[in-house]
Amino acid sequence: MKILIINGPNLNLLGKREPEIYGNTSFQDFYLELQVEFPQIELQYYQSNVEGQLIDKLHEVGFEWDGIVLNAGAYTHTSLALADAIAGITTPVIEVHISNVFAREKIRHHSFIAPHCIGSISGLGLQSYKLALRYWLDCVH
Ligand code: DQA
Repeated sequence: MKILIINGPNLNLLGKREPEIYGNTSFQDFYLELQVEFPQIELQYYQSNVEGQLIDKLHEVGFEWDGIVLNAGAYTHTSLALADAIAGITTPVIEVHISNVFAREKIRHHSFIAPHCIGSISGLGLQSYKLALRYWLDCVH
């Protein structure tokens, strides 16, 4: 099973960025943990701060891979183009957020991408990514 994790803008700073909201762990360290914990999944990771590059990546894998875990960062709340890209591919996407976006500023309550994802996980820290992977292992064969 091939699953791609995509992180959007500013998520390259995980571990350093607003640790009171996003924690102290870098995604690189967390990704090592994921690889050990999910040996059955052929995992890949992609991060970009650029909207168009995220869209290109969705197009590239979105007709062949089994699943995508997407933390679109702030583009979640702004990008109709990203929403259209998810609507246009066939690979199912799970939306994840580290923080509880519904407990934050109002502008973060709306997600352009949520209607095109099979589900959304928000507020459970980095565990949000693990739960998305668990879904594919347990529920999709
Ligand atoms: C985030 C939440 C977004 O509102 C924010 O812009 C991010 C990170 C999260 O993982 O909690 O960059 O997606």
